[in-house]
Amino acid sequence: MIYTLTTPLYYVNDKPHLGSTYTTVACDALARFQRLEGRKVVFVTGVDEHGQKIQRTASQQGISPIDHCDLVTASYELAWKNWDISNDRFVRTTSTRHLPLVRQFFQRCEEAGDIRSGRQTGWYCVGCEEFKDDPATAVNPSCPIHQKPLEWRDEENLFFCLSNFQDRIEDLINQPDFIAPASRRKEIQNFVAGGLRDFSISRVNVEWGLPVPGHKGHTFYVWFDALLGYLTALLDDGGSIDLDRLINVGWPVNEHVIGKDILRFHAVYWPAMLMSAGLPTPRKVFGHGFLTREGQKMGKSLGNVLDPDVLLNRCGTDAVRWYLLRDIQFGDDGDFQQQRFVDLVNNDLANTIGNLLNRTSSMSRKWFNESTPIVNPDDSNNHELREPAELTIKTVRESMPKMAFQKAAEAILQLAIQANGYLNDQAPWSKMKKGGQEGQVAIDLYGVLESCRLVGLLLKPIVPELSKRILSQLDQPASVENWTTELVWGRLESGQPLPLPKPVMQRLELEEAL
Ligand code: MSP
Repeated sequence: MIYTLTTPLYYVNDKPHLGSTYTTVACDALARFQRLEGRKVVFVTGVDEHGQKIQRTASQQGISPIDHCDLVTASYELAWKNWDISNDRFVRTTSTRHLPLVRQFFQRCEEAGDIRSGRQTGWYCVGCEEFKDDPATAVNPSCPIHQKPLEWRDEENLFFCLSNFQDRIEDLINQPDFIAPASRRKEIQNFVAGGLRDFSISRVNVEWGLPVPGHKGHTFYVWFDALLGYLTALLDDGGSIDLDRLINVGWPVNEHVIGKDILRFHAVYWPAMLMSAGLPTPRKVFGHGFLTREGQKMGKSLGNVLDPDVLLNRCGTDAVRWYLLRDIQFGDDGDFQQQRFVDLVNNDLANTIGNLLNRTSSMSRKWFNESTPIVNPDDSNNHELREPAELTIKTVRESMPKMAFQKAAEAILQLAIQANGYLNDQAPWSKMKKGGQEGQVAIDLYGVLESCRLVGLLLKPIVPELSKRILSQLDQPASVENWTTELVWGRLESGQPLPLPKPVMQRLELEEAL
């Protein structure tokens, strides 16, 4: 059985910023976790390249839309490589495979009687590529997200008959697991309770879009085309573009991970489109919060973005991945604060985890022949750190599939804190000084090293590079495919050589993180 998850398909109006990186990193952590749990994962990401927003950006830069898309798309591909993103697919909505899929899908909706012509009037936000029907826009036609004036539209379009799906969508969104976190369900329930209105799916004034078959002069509304990109990605396996194949290649998706700004599209419009085309609906839509800076959504249009390349070059992927996943409750908004970023990286990764590993392996090498100490199985099994370690494993395995990264990260950190406390209480250095207690010192150090091994392994989905460095410091295989057999207390071999310790995590200085 395939486990499919997706990031949104990002607009290519500009290169990725920390907000889009945040969603992608979170998905990556989930994808890595599911693989380690032994599942066959298809992790999809990609770009959304059509529409007025892209058309305008390209024209402002004096280049053709496709040249613009090629440039920005390349920057996404490079960014995800630099951020250690383990996506299996990268879809472009300008790819040649996408158009036949969109046509096929549209045809199914037309045959189902869910497409009609009509007149569309209203206030439009080009940044969101969305009509804003909030009553407040009548008084102040401005987009609260982009803080830009809305544009009035009045045109003949094709409509998707969303109103045909009122009951079925209500049933879907009332399912307890469909919208996560639960706190976001209410907002969608209220929206649906207000009555579903048909939405326009074609444009007559936007050239940069896919042509609607049988409707000359119309291009598809960018959202209609973009959502279908998820399907194109799954069919991009060398086989044919045939919607009937989808259920064999990972559809329905297990999880669409998106920001809260586009929840309505994914939890209401998209399932209705799929129902119309006779395809199963997504299993879950997770709408996370915004990353803010000084309390404002970080976004390309607002010009308050943090450049992920700068952070990456100065601080490394692990530092930023750790901060994003450990400090912010995924689902809620989170404010990026430089001082806190530096403090957490230094305290959690460099001190609590890095120093623990370093000093314990140094002691072990010094007193036990450059190796892990030799202990008998009984002493290992009854070790004081075993129970907290097993509890940590349990917490991580329960939290990660729910995207509760913060809980998982804190549990891992807690194990390192406990191991540090244990080491300080046992003070093996004093026992060695007194002499005659080597057996007890061996047990003390073994337990701490074994905790470090488990910490290193459990960190794998969250900070993969740091995890590798920790494991290699303990002479453990860096590439673990399925971690089930490894996540067992006592797997660290007694008397196994230990490499010369090097710091696994560099400390950050505040200036580096600006
Ligand atoms: N192209 C559409 C999505 C189509 S999906 C079929 C789109 N693109 S976007 O480039 O604007 O990206 C939106 C997504 O980027 C958000 O839903 C969220 O996942 C992520 N983020 C953008 N800014 C963000 C923050 N400031 N904070 C967190 N996530 C952010 O909408």
